[in-house]
Amino acid sequence: MLRSHTCGELRAENVGQQVTLCGWVDTYRDHGEGLLFIDLRDRYGYTQVVASPESGEQAQQLARQVRSEFVLSVTGTVAPRPEGTVNPKLATGEIEVRISELQILNECDNPPFQPGAVELPGEDLRLKYRFIDLRREEMQQALLLRSAIVKGMRDHFEEHQFIDVETPVLGRSTPEGARDYLVPSRVHPGKFFALPQSPQLYKQILMIAGYDRYVQVARCFRDEDLRADRQPEFTQLDMEMAFVEMDDVMGMIDLLVARLAKDLLGLDVRLPLPRMTYDEAMERFGHDAPDLRFGMELIDLTDLAAKTEFRVFRGVADGGGRVRGINAKGARDNYSRKGIDELTTYVQQDFGAKGLAWFKVEDDGTLASPIAKNFEDELLAAIRDRMQAEPGDLLLFIADDWSVTCKALNGLRNRLGAELKLYDPKTMNFSWVIEFPMFEFDEETGGWTAMHHPFTAPRKQDLELLETDPARCRAQAYDLVINGSEAGGGTIRIHDPQTQQKVFDILGIDEATAAERFGFLMDALKFGAPPHGGIALGIDRFVMLFGGLASLRDCIAFPKTQRATDLMTRAPDEVESKQLKELSIKISR
Ligand code: AMO
Ligand code: AMP
Repeated sequence: MLRSHTCGELRAENVGQQVTLCGWVDTYRDHGEGLLFIDLRDRYGYTQVVASPESGEQAQQLARQVRSEFVLSVTGTVAPRPEGTVNPKLATGEIEVRISELQILNECDNPPFQPGAVELPGEDLRLKYRFIDLRREEMQQALLLRSAIVKGMRDHFEEHQFIDVETPVLGRSTPEGARDYLVPSRVHPGKFFALPQSPQLYKQILMIAGYDRYVQVARCFRDEDLRADRQPEFTQLDMEMAFVEMDDVMGMIDLLVARLAKDLLGLDVRLPLPRMTYDEAMERFGHDAPDLRFGMELIDLTDLAAKTEFRVFRGVADGGGRVRGINAKGARDNYSRKGIDELTTYVQQDFGAKGLAWFKVEDDGTLASPIAKNFEDELLAAIRDRMQAEPGDLLLFIADDWSVTCKALNGLRNRLGAELKLYDPKTMNFSWVIEFPMFEFDEETGGWTAMHHPFTAPRKQDLELLETDPARCRAQAYDLVINGSEAGGGTIRIHDPQTQQKVFDILGIDEATAAERFGFLMDALKFGAPPHGGIALGIDRFVMLFGGLASLRDCIAFPKTQRATDLMTRAPDEVESKQLKELSIKISR
């Protein structure tokens, strides 16, 4: 070992000891007259080391050559800091190390930014020089948190008799709804492996094979449009259980969530975690992963709208659309006309709303708005009642088809919740949204797509709806929601081939196609498949939410940019023509 202690370890008790520390030069200050202070840093902390005339000529001379991010080995004696220079903010702030020997283990070019800089450099620079960025305390904390979360997850599942099984990365396309990353086969020209979007089918096969409780920290790949909470390559805590129902899988995750919240955040979470159906979530919040840290629920006014002369409301209500609104309590004076114009542009541009209708509730209780003149007094009173409006409130309404009212009001609600500081950003809210629709109608293709994936079982009481009314068929599905983000999703699976084929039929996958793409699953279902179900948790998202971080990129050591590139290694890149030839690939551009 090149060191006797780490840079975060020494305390007053160590005074008098001879120690050797290794680390990076965080800052250095030359006080003249041979006195030089260096803050030496490693991942455990910082220690002040001091070169003085007592350190000897050689050590002093080397100390003068030291620059930011040089790597040093320092041997010396632990001494109490002089009166008045103790730093209570630093764990090692009571002591310093008086250098007797100093070695420069490596120099450092002038770094593009300092890990300790108060102002963060642009993200591209951070990603290009990730080795320096990862020296920053925030990044270290995020990766330590990640490590602790994964350990907590592994421990939990091991204690509950889950078996960790690895599944292939080179496989066949799995339909999780995104585009595949493909890998050409050299041995079979013109054929491709697909990187797994999830281990979904393998874990089902493991249940059929009798493994009963499976878990894996699994890397997943999805070529989809990236956002702050989406990476093309991400990690799931993937699990599956046999002989279970929804309650069993959710119960197993409830225990995990409570454990992680307690161990990592010191929070007591009450179990079972609250549950809400998809239909209720969409009605009350307009979103299937509602942020329950604050209220401001959506309120329906369609029946009242049908009675007004205001053509915007009336037209939508008569045309089968919905008029819904939110009451931003006490926010009347937070939004000027200009502020409301900004909200209007926001719902128009981001969610395709046609406009934003609003009322300010005056001190005398009247509803003030340019559109107020279109409403009879009686109706204004009814709106006020329905919205539980009080002086000082701001009422906002969207009239549109159901889906636009959901998206736009959810967007507004989240934006206002943050702007009006309706919750403490440190609170954590965990809940389940259950019983999603089995299918979504795809306007483009004119057909049904699976809302979760095609292996999801319908609710038992909805089996008949598969034939009569797929739109109303609800799934045995459950999403874990943390602070308005989907942190995990799972389902009970179909375990008989007939139901599976019925679902494939609705999705437009006929028997021949099913046999070709999922023949192995259809086969396996015929060879003694137990009832089974599971879930996958987004580990990156757990880290983001538990750490209160703004971007998934800050939860991953080597993430991709928004444009799906790695700025450090410069992947993806062109390859040699020889490699392409071996793979029988021609680039046409
Ligand atoms: P699903 O597709 O819902 O389910 O994924 C499970 C969880 O993985 C996380 N996640 C992502 N995280 C970062 N970047 C992405 N691009 C990304 N996509 C998904 C989310 C999500 O809730 N096989 C099923 C699970 C099952 O049914 O058991 C599946 O993959 O947190
Ligand atoms: P207009 O008559 O189009 O000028 O609209 C009058 C007011 O109603 C404006 O404040 C618009 O932003 C608002 N508005 C227009 N269309 C809608 C809609 N679909 N939902 C809610 N408000 C709307």
